[in-house]
Amino acid sequence: MDARQMKIKAAEAALEHVESGMRLGIGTGSTAEEFVRLLAEKAASGFQISGVPTSERTARLCLELGVPLKSLDELPELDLTIDGADEVDGKLRLIKGGGGALLREKIVASASARMIVIADESKVVDVLGAFKLPIEINPFGQVATRLAIEKTASRLGLAGDIVVRSSGDGAFMTDGGHLILDASFGRIPDADALAVELNAIPGVVEHGLFIEMASMAIIAGPEGARTLTTS
Ligand code: A5P
Repeated sequence: MDARQMKIKAAEAALEHVESGMRLGIGTGSTAEEFVRLLAEKAASGFQISGVPTSERTARLCLELGVPLKSLDELPELDLTIDGADEVDGKLRLIKGGGGALLREKIVASASARMIVIADESKVVDVLGAFKLPIEINPFGQVATRLAIEKTASRLGLAGDIVVRSSGDGAFMTDGGHLILDASFGRIPDADALAVELNAIPGVVEHGLFIEMASMAIIAGPEGARTLTTS
């Protein structure tokens, strides 16, 4: 089974948790896109859902494939969000934002009664941090914000390069018009503390640590899909 097949397996298993009539948050990234393709087939066969996309990229794919969409303002309370992740630990803490959509992903997940993560085995880790932590920042004062992040990280015993994400000929801009800093901490032993401390820095719009948000992860490997839960 190749990587794409594993993503499809996880997406198929997640689809079983979707009921007709649900208000559904729809994630961003290659795994979430496999879910969108399956969801579009369901919708075409008469299954009723209202989707709220977590990025312009996901919105475009949904529109292309005929998945019915609403804005989060139209549907501010959602039943379920299905989204991918860059890393998942044993407590279902996540690193997200590899695709640059972490702010909308977090807003949508927070507005949802449940969040299910879909991923392949390569995303499961003992300790978060091998994946560079995406931190969304306001462009104003970006150098000062980066220095503040470095100092905060240092207080928590973390070190590593923190660089502005680029895209082609310039800085990567999020759907909200912000920058992303990618922090190479390597290991984040106390992700809960880092999450709180990063949120206290004024220039930080959001960070890619998703703590106590996912209640289930569907992890696909060569043998099929397995489920991780918090309880
Ligand atoms: C998007 O900003 C991310 O949070 C994605 O959910 C994450 O990067 C997983 O993407 P893949 O499914 O493409 O690995």
